[in-house]
Amino acid sequence: MNARTPLIVGNWKMHRDHLEAIQLLQRLAYHLTEEDTAEQETVVCPPFTALRSLQTLIQSDRMAVALGAQDCHPDPEGAHTGDISVPMLARLDVRYVVVGHSERRLHHGEDDALIARKARAALAGGLRPIVCVGEGETARESGQAEEVVLAQVRGSLVDVSPAEAADLVIAYEPVWAIGTGRTATPADAQDMAAAIRGALAERYDEATAAGIRILYGGSVKPANIRSLMTLDDVDGVLVGGASLSAEDFALIVGHRRGV
Ligand code: PGA
Repeated sequence: MNARTPLIVGNWKMHRDHLEAIQLLQRLAYHLTEEDTAEQETVVCPPFTALRSLQTLIQSDRMAVALGAQDCHPDPEGAHTGDISVPMLARLDVRYVVVGHSERRLHHGEDDALIARKARAALAGGLRPIVCVGEGETARESGQAEEVVLAQVRGSLVDVSPAEAADLVIAYEPVWAIGTGRTATPADAQDMAAAIRGALAERYDEATAAGIRILYGGSVKPANIRSLMTLDDVDGVLVGGASLSAEDFALIVGHRRGV
């Protein structure tokens, strides 16, 4: 056991309008027990358009679920048509923000330098960035997975100071495992998480690295959650597809239940 609080994050991606989002969160809350959410953090990241509705629902029903956003702009305000700033998210009680998801790296051309600025902006605005890293299939097959991932970790954290690093979350999501039904083996997930922690210790120091949470993401389901949560260096999961089912996500959050 370590002192890191487990963190289970649902990334709804571009699914659910605000009315559907309310229903999904209500169903999730119905399936969750108090024990499920105790001593760990549960976060849902809906589309921006649903944040305000879910903020209201979480507050009024005192749900043990926090809000995350799927992206942010590095500037606090400005002429950036279509973007959303960290202060805007903070005003909606958003606690976490995903930065550098592989879908944004791929489809929006985001590079490590931009992701580093977003991570820094999130921390400066009181949010916890979930910095996503992960190798593609070619890198995995050619034995370069670790090199690629650690370069992303270093490149995405250049702007994050040691004092801020405690609030960082890193999500290791091998691109070939996202939405494909293929999950990294527990041994591969552990090896990469340990390598990431090693890179964090080099960048900061051992104690800081030991406090940073590292998540695994990529086809996480009720059937594989337990084997992932028992890994020494994996402190939680980032869940895409399975977080859109209230029943499945409740089973993932409730992984400690003996069912
Ligand atoms: P998945 O997505 O669980 O559907 O593979 C994970 C993610 O993209 O965060």
